[in-house]
Amino acid sequence: MADDPVFLITGASTGIGAATARQAAHAGHRVVLAARNQERLEMLAGELGGPDRALAVPCDVNEWAQQEAMVAAALEAYGRLDVVFANAGFGAKRGWLEETPEHWKNMVLTNVLGAALTARAAIPALKDSKGHLLFTGSVAGRRVMPGSLYSCTKWAITAMGEAVRADLDGTGIRVTTIEPGMVDTPFFDNPVEGALEADDIARAVIYAVSQPKHVDVNEILVRPVAQTP
Ligand SMILES: NC(=O)c1ccc[n+]([C@@H]2O[C@H](COP(=O)([O-])OP(=O)(O)OC[C@H]3O[C@@H](n4cnc5c(N)ncnc54)[C@H](OP(=O)(O)O)[C@@H]3O)[C@@H](O)[C@H]2O)c1
Repeated sequence: MADDPVFLITGASTGIGAATARQAAHAGHRVVLAARNQERLEMLAGELGGPDRALAVPCDVNEWAQQEAMVAAALEAYGRLDVVFANAGFGAKRGWLEETPEHWKNMVLTNVLGAALTARAAIPALKDSKGHLLFTGSVAGRRVMPGSLYSCTKWAITAMGEAVRADLDGTGIRVTTIEPGMVDTPFFDNPVEGALEADDIARAVIYAVSQPKHVDVNEILVRPVAQTP
C-alpha cells in the first residue's frame, strides 16, 4: 500500500542484506535495495514485487554523491524512509602482512566510511519518520581477532552505533548494531560449516525493527552455537 513503511538496505545484493530484504518485504515493508551489482539488485527487486514494492538502486557506498542519490531515489519513489540498514562490507585475511594496501584501503572505506555516509545521508529523512537506523557490526567488533584489520573496522562500527545513538538523542530515531558471528554468505570464498545462515541474522534485524516505538534494541550479538571467540 502507498503508506507502507520503507526499508533501505545497503549490501542488499547478496547474503545478510538480501535475506533481510526478503524478510522485510514479507513483513510488509517496501524495500530499497542498494549495492554495486545492479543485475542482482534488479533480480531481487523483481522477486519482491517490482517497482511498487521494491526499488533497485546501484550505489557504491564509498561515494558520497551516490549515497545522496540513493536516498533521493528512495524518497522520490516512495516519499519516506522508515528503516535504514547500513550493512555493506567485506573482509580480509588475518595477518598484518596479508592482502594488499589497496585491499585494506577499500575495506576501511567501505566498512567504516561507507556506513558513516549511509547514516549521514539517511538521518534527515529518518528524523522526519522518527525511524530506525541499523548497522552491521560483528562479533569481530566485540572481540579482538588477532591480526585482523577487518576486526578493527567492526570495532569502529561498535563505536559508531553508540556515537550516532547519542547524537540522535531526542529525535525519536532508534539505533541498533547487529553483530553476527560466522554466517555462511558470499563474504567467504567457500561455504563454511557450522555457521549461521543469512536468514538467522535477518530475523534479528526484524526483531529489533518490530519492537514498540519506545524500545531501542541497542545491540544484538548472534553466534552459531559453540563458536569461539
Ligand atoms: N558473513 C559473516 O560471517 C559476517 C559476520 C559478521 C559480520 N558480517 C558483515 O555482514 C555484512 C554483510 O556481509 P555478508 O556476510 O552478507 O556478505 P556478502 O554476501 O558478501 O554481502 C556483502 C554486501 O556488501 C555489498 N558491498 C560491498 N562493497 C560495497 C560497496 N563499496 N558499496 C555498496 N555495496 C557494497 C555487496 O554487494 P556488491 O558487491 O554488489 O556491491 C554485498 O551485497 C558485512 O558488513 C559483513 O562485514 C558478516
